[in-house]
Amino acid sequence: MIETVRLRLRRGTAADIPDLVAALNDWDVAQWLARPPFPYSADDARAFLRWSQPDGELAPPRAYVVTCRATDRALGVASLEPEGDRAELGYWLTPAAQGHGFMGEAAAALLRAGSDRLPDVRTVYATTDPENRRSQAVLLRCGFRKVAEEARKQPTRRGGSVVFRFERELHAQRPGQP
Ligand SMILES: CC(C)(COP(=O)(O)OP(=O)(O)OC[C@H]1O[C@@H](n2cnc3c(N)ncnc32)[C@H](O)[C@@H]1OP(=O)(O)O)[C@@H](O)C(=O)NCCC(=O)NCCS
Repeated sequence: MIETVRLRLRRGTAADIPDLVAALNDWDVAQWLARPPFPYSADDARAFLRWSQPDGELAPPRAYVVTCRATDRALGVASLEPEGDRAELGYWLTPAAQGHGFMGEAAAALLRAGSDRLPDVRTVYATTDPENRRSQAVLLRCGFRKVAEEARKQPTRRGGSVVFRFERELHAQRPGQP
């Protein structure tokens, strides 16, 4: 579990399924995402919960449910998925939770936690739709920089054929390191 001033990032549970289903069936969220199916069912949410915690309670989850600390109600999801020396950052918030700076707060905390527990990962990357200015602002605020514009093999749900790729180093450089 990871806590910030306003948020708790915790394992998803069956109690989160209605909130996940409602949010991911909202076009304001779904249009920007590539992975979750649309429309999104309770079975999809159950499959996500299994995928997000491959090692059960034994290891930190691949994806955290982002909740309001006061209510513990699910507001969205944030994931940091390692593969070799790279990890992909992904996230979304339900429309009512957008516009309050929550994802900058959640992503910064997730990256700090990742820096402690993922020693083999050097680079974190994220991709966004070119028109997703909010997501790009979150990434810039978290220290990412845009490194490429890439053609997509398949058009996005919004019909886009290009993604912007952002990257940053996961671990802060220590003084004296090259
Ligand atoms: C992208 C998302 C996670 C952003 O999280 P958020 O907590 O709502 O972010 P905020 O509303 O605080 O806005 C982030 C930044 O974008 C800026 N912003 C807001 N609307 C904007 C707009 N229309 N154009 C440009 N910048 C905008 C804010 O000013 C803020 O900038 P700052 O950090 O410099 O203050 C959230 O909007 C979301 O879930 N969207 C739908 C799903 C999605 O796009 N997921 C990411 C896929 S790559």
